[in-house]
Amino acid sequence: MGKDFIRYGMVGGSADAFIGTVHRVANRFDERTRLTAGCFSRDEEKNRASGAAFGTERLYASFQEMAEAEGRREDGIDFVSIVTPNVSHYEVAKAFLAQGINVVCEKPLCFTVQQAEELAALSREKDLLFGVTYTYMGYPMVKFARQLVREGKIGRVINVSAEYPQEWLIDLLGEASSTAQLSGWRFNPKVAGISNCVGDIGTHIENVVAYVTGLKIKRVAAAVDYFGQELDLNANILVEYDNGAKGNYWCSQVSMGHYNDLVFRVFGTEGSLEWHQEDPERLKVCLKGQPMQYYYRGTGDIYGAAQACQRIPSGHVEGFHAAFANIYRAYSGAVLKKSRGEALTEADLDFPTVEDGVEGVKFINAVVASGKKDAAWVAL
Ligand SMILES: NC(=O)c1ccc[n+]([C@@H]2O[C@H](COP(=O)([O-])OP(=O)(O)OC[C@H]3O[C@@H](n4cnc5c(N)ncnc54)[C@H](O)[C@@H]3O)[C@@H](O)[C@H]2O)c1
Repeated sequence: MGKDFIRYGMVGGSADAFIGTVHRVANRFDERTRLTAGCFSRDEEKNRASGAAFGTERLYASFQEMAEAEGRREDGIDFVSIVTPNVSHYEVAKAFLAQGINVVCEKPLCFTVQQAEELAALSREKDLLFGVTYTYMGYPMVKFARQLVREGKIGRVINVSAEYPQEWLIDLLGEASSTAQLSGWRFNPKVAGISNCVGDIGTHIENVVAYVTGLKIKRVAAAVDYFGQELDLNANILVEYDNGAKGNYWCSQVSMGHYNDLVFRVFGTEGSLEWHQEDPERLKVCLKGQPMQYYYRGTGDIYGAAQACQRIPSGHVEGFHAAFANIYRAYSGAVLKKSRGEALTEADLDFPTVEDGVEGVKFINAVVASGKKDAAWVAL
């Protein structure tokens, strides 16, 4: 008889951090994991206070100490969630993989393609499960969009138009303001990497479109705007997929009137699909010769993976936390099943993996390189 819950640890995610809190809430949705260990901050006092607030049994001063100690224990953590800023993802992930511990890491996976491929190779070599939290594939209606594409409902995909505009950095276009102090590491290339906007939100577009369409990007041509800042704030990106189709992606942090307005429109030879993250419960489907339709989460019209991951009745809006919880449900379910020696199916692996993380890093690097070459095509 195998275990019925798994232990996880967290690196980053102190009580005042953004995404670590979302990860902890998401883990609680299914009551399958216990937050047993943590190094929530490099600041000793913050780390201690966070550990006490979260009721964490085992607190460590550094991620290196945590990886080594947890790797040695009989009852060590089954996986670690890495929710630190981008700069440390690579070394933290590597430290835990080296100890034989499964990893969930925030996006972007790391800075360079070489680092990303090294992490992917290490996880394969050690036979470990590696998730990368690309949030939006966790939404039921995104899963339903994927299902419809896979069933051939919209025919062959011929074009994609997707965008992720935000307004929160508009003040950077003018005089310095306090908004810039929030998550300030995002504008520091030493911590964020070579990109701010594309690395923070453009990469989500790449992942969600790849998930829905199954298409891989071959090359990109991008106009990247810096508006006098060291890192980008806006990008218009033309993409070409492996099936020859084209797409256009736009990400921006300086577009008034938009908060987290991720939208994708997928056009095929037989129809089209459209989904809005700020209106996530419905999917617009237009099929040739039929009136325009809207499918709603929680109704009898939804089936497959989308149906399996919905949690509450239609009309009670699920959202960001639930999408994260769906990723964790799949991931922790896979870790649990694997620990019992059971074979994993494609459905068990319905979470973003390290391979998706590698694609994300390739995308970010190619977009920035294209921007620097006056929007010349750059292969991924
Ligand atoms: N998937 C998503 O939708 C999504 C959304 C927001 C952020 N993110 C990603 O999550 C990561 C964190 O972003 P955030 O907005 O939560 O940042 P944040 O600044 O709010 O939090 C970072 C946390 O990491 C801690 N930390 C930093 N270095 C550490 C180290 N070496 N050891 C231990 N703790 C350390 C900090 O103390 C803090 O608690 C980034 O990579 C970001 O791209 C993803």
